[in-house]
Amino acid sequence: MRSSRASWPTQRVLLPAYVGWSAREGSGVFDPIASLKLTAGFYRVDSTLHIDLAHLEQELANGAAVVVLIHYFGHVDPGYTNTVELARRYGALIVEDEAHAMFTDLFGGSCGRLGDVCLFSLHKLLPMPTGGALVVNPGREGLVAGLVSDPSIPSPWDFDLLTMVRARRRHAEVLGELLAPLAGRVDPLWTLPPDEVPQTFAVRIRGVSRDLLYERMNAAGFGVVSLYHTMIPEITAAQFPASHELARTVMNLPVHQEASEHELRAMVVELSRQLDLLSS
Ligand SMILES: Cc1ncc(COP(=O)(O)O)c(C=O)c1O
Repeated sequence: MRSSRASWPTQRVLLPAYVGWSAREGSGVFDPIASLKLTAGFYRVDSTLHIDLAHLEQELANGAAVVVLIHYFGHVDPGYTNTVELARRYGALIVEDEAHAMFTDLFGGSCGRLGDVCLFSLHKLLPMPTGGALVVNPGREGLVAGLVSDPSIPSPWDFDLLTMVRARRRHAEVLGELLAPLAGRVDPLWTLPPDEVPQTFAVRIRGVSRDLLYERMNAAGFGVVSLYHTMIPEITAAQFPASHELARTVMNLPVHQEASEHELRAMVVELSRQLDLLSS
């Protein structure tokens, strides 16, 4: 979508306090906020990356025009419904950031239904170099008056989405089983509910440096990621210690459709070997 609007309102946008930045890519979440010169506020997340509803309410009470809800890595926050209710009570619009959660929305149906609009990042989940989509929920069409679609972006319906979704879920289930013996050293951030389709399999690394493990896994040819390894400077360690602890310890394992079960097994074997080496 391209905007034909000349200016945007400058009221506060509330974001979850878990927004990453990298020298190469900047911040996919925060750069648009900064470039539109919107004022941002941040609501806390806890050590499992779930929303701190009490803090969200405090921030809403300070005034907010928009609440951005991010369904991280395809996972739906247990406080999703409460978050939307709270935001509505304070008169804020709700943007569901489904950059990672398009499949959870389309196939699980457990997000994307309660907010005003949803954002898909098509290129993150589909084999295309760039592209996103804005989904407008019924009755909210007025919010996007003046937005024009870019006809060069392929439609998600051009792809075999169901095959991708099945592969992602199967890979996540396999990883869950393979990682069980590493409990206490590599712990899944969440268990996989039946209505979620992960973008990546998020784990917490304990006892060794996540950064070293990440480097060694990649050097060994396994494409693991640390998606939000550095918080944007607005999210300080003093104010948001749980966010920084997550940023230091979360690693994202691949579950994409091209991965094979054999590769996942080899990856976990290497993960286990590197954990032993790093902790010896
Ligand atoms: C949660 C989240 N939202 C939005 C974006 C931005 O997506 P895009 O690359 O399509 O601009 C990213 C990625 O950078 C992201 O991780």
